[in-house]
Amino acid sequence: MSSQSHLLPRVFGMHFPVIVRSEGIRLWDAEGNEYIDGTSGAISVASVGHARREVADAMHAQVMRMAYVHDNEFHNEPAHRLAARVVEFAGGDFSHAVFFSSGSEAVESAIKLAHNAHVLNGQPQRNIVIGRKRSFHGATFMALSVGDVSARKSIYPGYMSAASAKIPAPYCYRCPLGKTYPECNVACASELERTILELGPDNVSAFIAEPIVGAAAPALTPPAGYYEEIRRVCDKYGVLWIADEIVTGFGRTGRNFGYQHWDAQPDILVVAKGLSGGYVPLSGLIISEKVIRSFEAGGRYTHGLTYQNHPVACTAALAVLDIIEREGLVANAAKQGAYLEARLRETVARLPIAGELRGKGLLWGVELVKDRATKEPFDRSLGVGRKVHEQGLKNGLVIYQSGGSHYASDEVFISPPLIVTSADIDEIVAKFAQTLEDVQSAVLPTAAGTGSGAA
Ligand SMILES: Cc1ncc(COP(=O)(O)O)c(C=O)c1O
Repeated sequence: MSSQSHLLPRVFGMHFPVIVRSEGIRLWDAEGNEYIDGTSGAISVASVGHARREVADAMHAQVMRMAYVHDNEFHNEPAHRLAARVVEFAGGDFSHAVFFSSGSEAVESAIKLAHNAHVLNGQPQRNIVIGRKRSFHGATFMALSVGDVSARKSIYPGYMSAASAKIPAPYCYRCPLGKTYPECNVACASELERTILELGPDNVSAFIAEPIVGAAAPALTPPAGYYEEIRRVCDKYGVLWIADEIVTGFGRTGRNFGYQHWDAQPDILVVAKGLSGGYVPLSGLIISEKVIRSFEAGGRYTHGLTYQNHPVACTAALAVLDIIEREGLVANAAKQGAYLEARLRETVARLPIAGELRGKGLLWGVELVKDRATKEPFDRSLGVGRKVHEQGLKNGLVIYQSGGSHYASDEVFISPPLIVTSADIDEIVAKFAQTLEDVQSAVLPTAAGTGSGAA
């Protein structure tokens, strides 16, 4: 776009291609370049693909029927229907849902809901939220506070909430506790108990974590037993467990929700991104019966936003859920995810630059390293992750680049839409491997092209 653009860019001086058309899993920019979408937009948004006419038709019909009412005075049918659908989709003992616009709003709303429940239970002093290192929960101040992306937090230190604490990440590749799984006995999960005791059990409101990490540590997947221990600790101290399923929800990992890979149910699910497939901004909370019981005697959820339970946005999400269910996209994510893993292991994971490949379903992350044997990361000032992103665009592939945790190495994501076919995956993996090789030969000029062993 010309330098006369009036649109505030995220980075001044940076070139952003202008996308003018999208269909299925492909995008075209104003200069005629075609891209295959290897990340569903922001990791997990455009899950059902672009230009799905039935979503547009459903939204159009709802706009003409009734576009908006304020949730403070009126309820609406699409919101009621969507609440019932997502509660059923979530399984477990979830019983209610509420919808907002952005993921950050929903995270803030979950933290308020948890505290609100404690207030109704006569424990208003419970106001500390424990998060995890290597996490991201949104860009608003409380969401930033409970997350750990230093690049996003560093210029706002005075705004970060003191009512938040962190436990180490379940990061087995570089265990922050210096331990090895399974001998560690998921000590990183037991850190929650130690931290609760340190802060005073009666002061802690909630624990928040992504079941499988998104932006802040691509596809970092806690080992077996991790969330079972988290559940045990939360139950012991009356702490509510908020699972941020903004990336992992709605089929991304090959199950309806990420939490379902463990034998433990959270108390509140935070959802966004794939909920509306990117057609409209929409987020929400799916709330367990246990939390709802605190409100049932006439309790008030002291919160409210103008676009809460928006009828057109809820209609879009209903159409997206219809597609997910009718086309069996959760099963497709599991099936194509297994194929994606196999293809990544035989190509990308063998490259010297690929330190670790990790993930589940259609959510995969690669940690880029200078030396596979020592796991030495690249100097962050080299911007290797950004180079991969930019080279990907040149090669016609959209790759999401993670970054921002001061101690993290460069990492990138492959998380294609849930509608991908095996042929799409072949194309994505070929372009991804080519892109990594291109960058590798620039930053590791002595690399032979392929390394030994699988990452
Ligand atoms: C796990 C997670 N939580 C919260 C958010 C914040 O969502 P939003 O950008 O819609 O506010 C994001 C956004 O990337 C996310 O990945």
